[in-house]
Amino acid sequence: MSFPVSRPRRLRRGDLLRTMVRETDLAPSDLIYPLFVCEGKGVTKEIPSMPGVHHHSVDTLIDEVKAARDEGVPGVILFGIPASKDARGSGAYDAQGIVQRALTALKEKVPGVVLIADVCLCEYTDHGHCGVLEGGDVANDPTLDLLARSALSFARAGADIVAPSDMMDGRVAAIRRTLDEAGLEKTVILSYAAKYSSAFYGPFREAAESAPRSGDRKGYQMDPANAREALREVAADIEEGADIVMVKPALAYLDIVRQVRDRFDVPVAAYNVSGEYSMLVAAAERGWIDRPRAILESLTSIRRAGADLILTYFAREAARLLTHPAKA
Ligand code: PBG
Repeated sequence: MSFPVSRPRRLRRGDLLRTMVRETDLAPSDLIYPLFVCEGKGVTKEIPSMPGVHHHSVDTLIDEVKAARDEGVPGVILFGIPASKDARGSGAYDAQGIVQRALTALKEKVPGVVLIADVCLCEYTDHGHCGVLEGGDVANDPTLDLLARSALSFARAGADIVAPSDMMDGRVAAIRRTLDEAGLEKTVILSYAAKYSSAFYGPFREAAESAPRSGDRKGYQMDPANAREALREVAADIEEGADIVMVKPALAYLDIVRQVRDRFDVPVAAYNVSGEYSMLVAAAERGWIDRPRAILESLTSIRRAGADLILTYFAREAARLLTHPAKA
């Protein structure tokens, strides 16, 4: 069937018809909201490289999470800004650490939202690497125990999901074993399975004060040129016990999201990272791009590529746009 019998424009006539034949949907329930928690009281400090994103102390975090929940966002992921850092990242597995206290407070004060804790040492180490250093190198196996201790302390503090983002080999197995031995077999593992060594994390590193002091993360995060390797990473994490796998970043890696979706049956998440956020915000601030449309188009593209869940700093704004298209 070809023109003039076939006229694809027929199905594009009017909003209602377009809605009926739309292939991909985007809903607030697809979104996970990343948040930064710091020490103090009454703190909402804007991150200069991420306008609209803040460091929150536990009290203001509670309000932010309530607001997100009330707008229909079902989950939040927490990143900690500890008061002090050391070589072994002990804040990550301190029962009184900043994220642990935030989780306990949220569990009590904000029911009805899934609490996710990012598991990594980079926010807690004074050298800024995601694991412990031995001879200038990030040592894999000695890091596993610390990551597992961190995941365990987050789960004990109230995390429903732990999300290892460090890219050490074998960390999902180590975390699963430790959780199960502690009777926390119900805690979900969302692994950052295919996490690339990306320039798009720039603003996050300012936000989390986690840029490595020396060297880079190319010895553990993936080479952006590799796709087959991502499938091996995902297969390994599922084998080790990951319940949900993530591809990160999202927009420059939509082909990876699609391949992971096609190859595996577990839920797939994608992380619309800080650089993706800040580029869009900066262009919109200059009037070069229509912010609401660009947000929804970006998030829809991530869903279209096959992601079930999207971690995005736009979560609240997108939820509002989806619920009240006219108002937002
Ligand atoms: C590491 C971690 C990073 C992000 C989430 N977890 C940064 C990194 O690897 O340097 C990046 C998130 C973003 O850019 O929004 N714990």
